[in-house]
Amino acid sequence: MKEELLLADKIIESFGCQRSELIAIMQEIQDKNKYLSEDALQLIAEKLNMSVAKVYSVATFYENFSLEAKGKHNIKVCTGTACHVRKSQPIYDAIHKYLELTDTQKTSKDGLFTLETVACLGACGLAPVMTIDGEVHAKMTPETALVLLEKIRKEEAGE
Ligand code: FES
Repeated sequence: MKEELLLADKIIESFGCQRSELIAIMQEIQDKNKYLSEDALQLIAEKLNMSVAKVYSVATFYENFSLEAKGKHNIKVCTGTACHVRKSQPIYDAIHKYLELTDTQKTSKDGLFTLETVACLGACGLAPVMTIDGEVHAKMTPETALVLLEKIRKEEAGE
């Protein structure tokens, strides 16, 4: 068994394989493995004696569960009202294009970035706002956002 699955197995066992603990089990596996892999969801279904479809539907219902591995750097563009009014959508679109993402794919092919949205970061006075690895960047434009990503890419490439 892969290491990721051994860990998932241990977590499921620690909850006594109880169906009522499904959410808690998924939460803990995600905390440890950073996401819920297909194999992990299958293992949960097997051990909790549930259908894989049911486990999937729960995993996709809750927004904070991630079914794909996250990139090294996590970008969140605020789409709350204040940021939306101050044009956060073009920022999101520019990053989406820059990272060559598709509609379903949130992580760049090189595994460096994951792009997400967030409802309101509580920093509306600084709109439009985005975060990179939790650090808030204020009054962004598509251009300044891409400069930040370019900088990280260069750092990662050791340039
Ligand atoms: S709406 Fe973006 S920080 Fe509040």
